[in-house]
Amino acid sequence: MTRDIDWTLLHATAVEAMGKAYAPYSDFPVGVAALVDDGRIISGCNVENASYGVGLCAECSLVSALIMSGGGKLVAFACVDGKGDRLMPCGRCRQLLYEHSAEGMLLDTVSGIKTIDEVLPDAFGPRQLEEYAAPPAP
Ligand code: THU
Repeated sequence: MTRDIDWTLLHATAVEAMGKAYAPYSDFPVGVAALVDDGRIISGCNVENASYGVGLCAECSLVSALIMSGGGKLVAFACVDGKGDRLMPCGRCRQLLYEHSAEGMLLDTVSGIKTIDEVLPDAFGPRQLEEYAAPPAP
């Protein structure tokens, strides 16, 4: 990927989003931000619920923002906790991100910049469904 990624801006945008988190039950606010392949920057925060299990991770909010603002593919992603420290997306959220990832999408992780394939190896995704539905080769 040749595009220059402004990780400082992505991190700052994630911190700003974290400030909007609704996390009264866990007291663990999370903020995320991503660069989309058309250049725009989107963000999200976690939104919890009195029915604990239906709380939304920050990545859910980000994916909704992606679709509602015109769609596209995620090129780079940052996630922070309430202290502004890097946070790994949970397993479910890695799957959410994978669905909308550009080829080679990068994540600013606790162990450096990694690709989506590194944080979700051998992922299940749209391709598996397409291959299953495709007629067998003659
Ligand atoms: N959380 C996220 O928003 N994203 C993650 O990737 C990890 C966990 C939220 C869910 C819950 O509101 C809080 O962090 C504590 O688990």
